[in-house]
Amino acid sequence: MYPLIRNRRLRTTEAIRRLVRETIVTPDDFLVPLFVVEGKGVKEEIPSMPNYYRMSLDYLEKEIKELWNMGLCAVLLFVKVDDKLKDNKGTEALNPDGLMQRAIKTVKSACPDMLVMTDVALDPFSSYGHDGIVAEGQILNDETAEVLAEMSVSHAQAGADFVAPSDMMDGRILTIREALEDEGYQQTGIMSYSAKYASGFYGPFRDALDSAPVDIENVPKDKKTYQMDPANRFEAIRETQMDVDEGADIVMVKPGLPYLDIVREIKNEVDVPVAVYQVSGEYAMLKAAAEKGWLDHDTVMMEQLLAIKRAGANIIASYFAKDFVRIHS
Ligand code: PBG
Repeated sequence: MYPLIRNRRLRTTEAIRRLVRETIVTPDDFLVPLFVVEGKGVKEEIPSMPNYYRMSLDYLEKEIKELWNMGLCAVLLFVKVDDKLKDNKGTEALNPDGLMQRAIKTVKSACPDMLVMTDVALDPFSSYGHDGIVAEGQILNDETAEVLAEMSVSHAQAGADFVAPSDMMDGRILTIREALEDEGYQQTGIMSYSAKYASGFYGPFRDALDSAPVDIENVPKDKKTYQMDPANRFEAIRETQMDVDEGADIVMVKPGLPYLDIVREIKNEVDVPVAVYQVSGEYAMLKAAAEKGWLDHDTVMMEQLLAIKRAGANIIASYFAKDFVRIHS
């Protein structure tokens, strides 16, 4: 007896495979993270992120035009701040003429239609490398949320379309939403890093921004008192639901690939768009394996992006965005 139902019929040719394909990744899905530094004519490769760069504002302008011409329409900005400007309260983050504020304006003047999202957390501005204010070995929650709200308003003033708080303080979405409303930025959106895990996969990013927690007495060595325990699933749903209730327009799961079970779970629970951050360590792993000839870069990259989308992502923040477009078109 041979089977009447043969699933392989739907796999026989590329045409039938295209016809029945359930998931498609397009350039519209991408949010492109960009690292900005002071200076002029600076475009430096990040050692643990091959072919990814920190760039000064003049290069940022070129990059934005290139991305737009490639069909990529949204960026997520991060800045690397000089050590001399760092303090415990992240004061420089509120400077109306700070690097982030100038970067936002640079993007908007190069390409007014490009969607600009900004990272909102203290770590690049913190002398201790923490996402919040440190006091007696603790990360202060409510005091930090106040600074994040001011920071968000400052980004909105500079022209950001969305702010993206990545800090994991409790209640910060509401604090930020209220501050934006009070200052007249009703249209400025919030993409919340809702389920952000205390992950080892952020290593290369902290190299890129020189933002790792410092090794000083009475300063926590890791971010485990605010970022989530990788062991937890229900907590991710609770965190995300709370952010939606506080006014998040988009929620996020981070990292990506090792947390796709969480992505699906969140997708089933909430009805706002879900973003996934395929983080620096995920990028570094594939680049390294491909460099050694152990994995085929493009095949594995496409498979990973597809898996993220299939799991339920509406938006993918990824360092592979340009590589994707190069192969896709
Ligand atoms: C900062 C922030 C981090 C990332 C995005 N925003 C690092 C961290 O939380 O330590 C990581 C992104 C990546 O690894 O690509 N709050």
